[in-house]
Amino acid sequence: MTPRPPRSTVRNAALAVVAGALLTAGIVVPAGGAPAVENSAMDNIIPAPESVQPDPATTFELTQQTSIQATGEAAEVGEYLAGILRPSTGYPVPVNRGALGTGDIALALDGAPDLGPAGYRLQVADDNVSVHATSTEGLFNGVQTLRQLLPAAIESPTAQPGPWTMPGGSIVDKPRFEHRAAMLDVARHFFDVAQVKSYIDQIARYKINRLHLHLSDDQGWRIQINSWPRLAEYGGSTEVGGGPGGYYTQQDYTDIVNYAASRHIVIVPEIDMPGHTNAALASYAELNCDGVAPPLYTGIDVGFSSLCVDKDITYRFVEDVIRELAALTPGPYLHIGGDEAHSTPEEDYKKFIAQVLPLVSKYGKTVVGWHEYGKAQPQGDAVVQFWGTTNADPLLTDAVARGNKILASPANKSYLDMKYNESTPLGLQWAGFIEVADAYGWDPGSYLQGVPEESVLGVEAPLWSETLENSEHIEFMAFPRLPAIAELGWSPKGAQNWESFRQRLATHGPRLTASGIDFYASTQIPWAK
Ligand code: ACM
Repeated sequence: MTPRPPRSTVRNAALAVVAGALLTAGIVVPAGGAPAVENSAMDNIIPAPESVQPDPATTFELTQQTSIQATGEAAEVGEYLAGILRPSTGYPVPVNRGALGTGDIALALDGAPDLGPAGYRLQVADDNVSVHATSTEGLFNGVQTLRQLLPAAIESPTAQPGPWTMPGGSIVDKPRFEHRAAMLDVARHFFDVAQVKSYIDQIARYKINRLHLHLSDDQGWRIQINSWPRLAEYGGSTEVGGGPGGYYTQQDYTDIVNYAASRHIVIVPEIDMPGHTNAALASYAELNCDGVAPPLYTGIDVGFSSLCVDKDITYRFVEDVIRELAALTPGPYLHIGGDEAHSTPEEDYKKFIAQVLPLVSKYGKTVVGWHEYGKAQPQGDAVVQFWGTTNADPLLTDAVARGNKILASPANKSYLDMKYNESTPLGLQWAGFIEVADAYGWDPGSYLQGVPEESVLGVEAPLWSETLENSEHIEFMAFPRLPAIAELGWSPKGAQNWESFRQRLATHGPRLTASGIDFYASTQIPWAK
């Protein structure tokens, strides 16, 4: 890293708007002053914090002697931070060695309640770095910011030379939206536990706090259900292209849930119904209206399968699945899909969803569904996930009128599986090409007509896997668009500024490289070397 000369301005959300139009490569216009060289890593954080106050006279250095002071519940976040710092620095970085000394990092559960559970304050002084929050979630978010204040090489899995300095200053931060999600389709191609954990670690860097797992589709059923064992054993035995597929045992799923929780990420499991169910229908003949099981499916068409709405056994099946999955899932949500049920007649669709909604409540979960399920008028606390390619839909205004919360994942903005442009080797293009600027260029609080910001639960970046076969493929499609969506979900509206984002993202290239993340080097971004 080149040393960064200091800059003496206060940067906050309001200033970012004023200065935004004037930001050019490496130059920022401070409030009321002459252009200064943009140089503090405090200005490069993604998602942009609520407020940043650099202190150019101050630099902290992490050394061989640095320890982390984090007592009680904070110790788990301390160990997580130490796990990031040890490999690249080669330093021992003990946790709770003794009283806070010079050169130490403190993680303290003494934060201001007005920052909420996810918020934090971070202070970088000459002697110490401290993160303050009211909960371990807030500390964890502060730690994601802290690591971005260190040189990019901090992300390396092997020892690097340093020095490990951090620019002085303070940050006060909290999220705009409560729900900042990624989705991984493990049905079209199966990704094993290690691959899912790897993605969890990657999305956590950008303060994503939900991972929606699309656990079933026409091509595969990926979660063991003890009362219907063939779902996974047979229905999970292939994938798009005819590969061997796979599934999570209940123990595997619990392992994923617990790992996600250690990264303050809640798993939102989805069983898609009544369409997208060929793998289930192939596994149990009795679920089909004609009693004949179709063959397994390894293509990428949609809309051809449906559960049999008039059979009692359909609801016994659905209830068994919901009961087992709810029991395995500590998070509040259960997603019932409901999209693209093109071979379920409309009246049957409504009847089906209306019978399933009480089952989700019965097992203590808040229902989430793709926006089509709004046709069945889910009540109360139901979450409606919008995936359309327009910014207006009567189902959304109806949902808002019923008090439902909207999860915004417009396919032409937030779908990470859309190609970046015509030469992208992976992905699909039915919702259009999505370059980084497109992914960043919408405001979740005002994008959907008739959906006020108070009705928006948050954002999601879904990653469908028809064309994706391994972690490198996942990374190439998710990065750098996932950080763009993460910023829309976290940062104050006033901080949303493409010029600022692309300059900050440029500095994340070396970070992603040091982390071993295989990102798309969009020509829209002036990547740092
Ligand atoms: C979807 O993309 N069918 C939700």
